[in-house]
Parts: sequence; structure tokens; C-alpha cells
Amino acid sequence: EEEEKQHWFVGSIDQGTTSSRFLIFNGEGDPVASHQIEFENLYPKSGWHEHDPQELVSSVEQCIEEALRKFADLGHSKSDIRSIGITNQRETTVVWDRFTGEPLHNAIVWPDTRTGALVRELKSRDGSESLMDLCGLPLSTYPSSVKLLWLLRNVDSVKQAYEEGRLAFGTVDSWLIYKLNGGAKAEKPVHVTDSTNASRTMFVNLRTLQYDDKLLGFFGIDKSKIQLPKIVPSSDPECFGKIASGPLINVPIAGCLGDQSSALVGQCGFSPGQAKNTYGTGCFLLYNVGTEPVISKYGLLATVAYDFGGGQKPVYALEGSIAVAGSGVKFLMNNLGFVDESSEITSLAESVPDNGGVVFVTAFSGLFAPYWIDDAKGTLFGITHHTNKGHIARATLEATCYQTRAILDAMEKDSQHKLESLAVDGGLSNSDLCMQTQADITGIPVDRPAMRETTALGAAIAAGLATGVWRTLEDLKEVNRSGRKIFQPQMEKAKAEGMFKRWEKAVEMSKGWVQ
Ligand code: G3P
Repeated sequence: EEEEKQHWFVGSIDQGTTSSRFLIFNGEGDPVASHQIEFENLYPKSGWHEHDPQELVSSVEQCIEEALRKFADLGHSKSDIRSIGITNQRETTVVWDRFTGEPLHNAIVWPDTRTGALVRELKSRDGSESLMDLCGLPLSTYPSSVKLLWLLRNVDSVKQAYEEGRLAFGTVDSWLIYKLNGGAKAEKPVHVTDSTNASRTMFVNLRTLQYDDKLLGFFGIDKSKIQLPKIVPSSDPECFGKIASGPLINVPIAGCLGDQSSALVGQCGFSPGQAKNTYGTGCFLLYNVGTEPVISKYGLLATVAYDFGGGQKPVYALEGSIAVAGSGVKFLMNNLGFVDESSEITSLAESVPDNGGVVFVTAFSGLFAPYWIDDAKGTLFGITHHTNKGHIARATLEATCYQTRAILDAMEKDSQHKLESLAVDGGLSNSDLCMQTQADITGIPVDRPAMRETTALGAAIAAGLATGVWRTLEDLKEVNRSGRKIFQPQMEKAKAEGMFKRWEKAVEMSKGWVQ
């Protein structure tokens, strides 16, 4: 078997906020073929953010076909792909008709803030303060619960489907798994979600990992009228079903993790005290706290890091979520025309020696952790005749670094433990300038792996563990270890503190803007 195993591969679908990808990993955890497709992000009104659910599926299917073509060109056989894993943007909410499999609305994407007024109403209700203890999440525009409630209140076809018992709800993992299994036409339609994705809905008790009647009741969701996905472990050979058509027909889906959990797994952050920060569309710091959840007192989220099933206890994390990171760079590129490619932002920022006194609070979706200010708006401070695009580019990169620092401060208070170094990945981690700034602002080393496909690797690991590619976490100890680059803090401490103080003042001043 060992010899045969050398030819085993695992596929990984990474369905993110701006693109879909499919990667194929070998048993050493190295990607051998991949394909990526950017799809349309829809912003129909200020604060609204949607995806076409069908396009999410078709982009994934196209990525699978293209990556497999490249894989075959390298002389590999698709029959050596043992299983596939799925990782996905979290919280994004999809509703469909469970009898036809047709979506009933565009997906409402995680940073969407249309639920602002609804959240204010919910916060004033009795019992709102006790939710966080049960589910680990603060009431905000971010989780799926408020998105579903908005759809139920505002979209007639959704309301009607609910009244008639036809409504199915899911996050992107559930939707993809359902469709890849053949949707409504499957002999036995598969409607599941894994524990990590489930923990982002606000409907799930973090300790039992089951739907909680108190939470559902608070949001007025009647279980008998809606089909909620069954919650299953993140790694399992059977419960996610099989691909129903296309080149990977009959290959089992054996792993599923929300993308931030997946990046922690891909960084092999399996021990309590390990943490990673992923700079994607947003930026998310996850800190492994072990097998008991820690409910934050300082503005962080409690979430499921991974749940490998088979009698093992789920592992939890404290999370600091930042809504805008790479999307800030995209804003400078698409809305303001600063650069033609995202990767050019670093050289633009390097064209000036410092931020020239500019601070950019990139609160395009309010501010998430650790602040949770729903009504903050993007605000640029400190502009003079001296200010140019370079200063604004720098201030945009720095905004994510300051928020990461604020999250680390909160994490230290919640966990009574100071992080010794920060493992990083995701698109913006390619910027040496951004990573050096991160080390300077936090005062701890930033540790970047050579292979930065950690999000996709995590889901491949979950699937590979369920299908014998790796048997235990021990088998993974060589994975993704080589070629790491460490950024040591270089800035004088007093200077870094001064910059952070000005950021904190700017945050205060960005609140309460009424449109
Ligand atoms: O919670 C949202 C998160 O899962 C999205 O991740 O990589 O698109 O920033 P990303």
C-alpha cells in the first residue's frame, strides 16, 4: 500500500469571496495542478453585497475541469484522486427551494451591511445579551442568522417558500455540496454543513454543535418550516456524498472546513496556543484554544477550529475578524484607479517612505473585531497638499496591520497568553512591505510559509485524513515546513506605539456617520 500511496492525490475546492479555485495536492501536501476563476461580485446598493449562487457552482465546476486538464498534461491519472475537500467563504447565506433546487435569491455575502437596522432592533430585544455565551458570536451584521431573517422579512418568494415548507437554507459549503451531489435530482439529496461552518450561523450551540432552540427562537426561526443542513464533522468519508457528474464523477467529498479554519489546518496549527492570520478579501486571525471554547470578553469570536470526528473532540479557536484587507486594495484599484493589478500596490506604497500622516480607517462594512462598530464608515484622516496615492496605498495596508494588533491585544487579555510569533498566509501576505509593517506594529515576528495555498491545503488534509492519504496528524509533520520567511520587528517601539495610538483615535472618529 505504501508504494501505491505515493501516487495518491487529494483535490480541494476553495470557494472564496472573489474567486473559485480547484487545487490538486500530492501526499507531501504540495500543489501539483490548479485553476482559478474570478466571478462577479454584485453591489446593488450601498452596503449590499451579493453573489449569484449558480455562478458559484459553475465557476467551481469549470475550475475542476481546467485543473484536471493540467493534471493530465503532467502525466497523472484522475483515478489517483482519492477524495476532495471543500473550503469556502463563511457566513454567506444561500436560500433555495428544496423541491426544485433553484435558488430563491442571490446569496447575501458576509460583509453585507443591509441588516444594520435589523441588528439594532434585535439588540434591543430581551435575551440578546445571552446569545454570545451560547454561540460564541456577537450580534452584528456578520453572521448568517441576520441575513436569513432579512430575506424572510423582505423577499416574498422566500417568505412563501418558508410558509409552504419548501425553504432550504445553507452557507456556501452546504449549497456546493448539495449541488455537486446532484441537487434536487439526486436519489438522496445531500444537505449538510460541517461544524466549522455551522458555528458561523448563530443558530448553533458551540458546546453541543447542534441547533439550539433558544437561538432559533430568538431569531423567530420555526424549524418545522425550514430545512436546515445537518451538522456533521469536518472530515468524514461518507456524509458529504459524492460528485454526481463531470470528470470527477463518483469521487467522494470527504472534507469540509470554513476557509479560516482550513487555513489554520493548512498551517498545521494543531496545538493550543498556535495562531495564524490570513490576509484574503478580509483578514482573519485564529488562535487554537484546545477542546473547550473560550467566550471572549474583549471583542473576539469563539468558533470551531476543526472537528475531525471519529470520536475525537472538536477543537475551538478564538477569532479576530477584519472585514477589509485585500478588498481595500481592490477598492483602490477598481474604484479609484490607483493601480492596474493588486500586486502593484506594494510598489506604490514603497514610492513614499512613510504614510505622511495619513490614516485610513477602511470601515467599508463597519468595523469588525475587536471593535464591532456597525455604523463606522470608511474614513481617511490627515490629508494635506503633501498627500499622494503612495501615502493612501500605505495607509490602506497599515489599516489591516493596526486591526491585527488590536486583535492580538484582545487575544492576550482573553487567553492570558502573549503570542510569540504570527504565522501568516493569503494574498496580501505576498507583500513584504505589508508583512514587515505587521511585524513592526505588533512587535512580534511574522512567519510566512513558502507554500501559501494553506486554505486549500486545509480542506485537502481534512479529506485526506478521512480517506487514508494521511492516517494521523503525525503523518503531516513534514507538510508545509520548508522555506519559511521570518519578518523581525525593526521599528522603534515608541514609534510603533505612536502610530497605533493615532489609529485608535481615527477609529473613534469614524463612528456614527449617518447616511
Ligand atoms: O468570514 C468570511 C471569510 O470566511 C471570508 O474569507 O478569504 O474571502 O477573506 P476571505
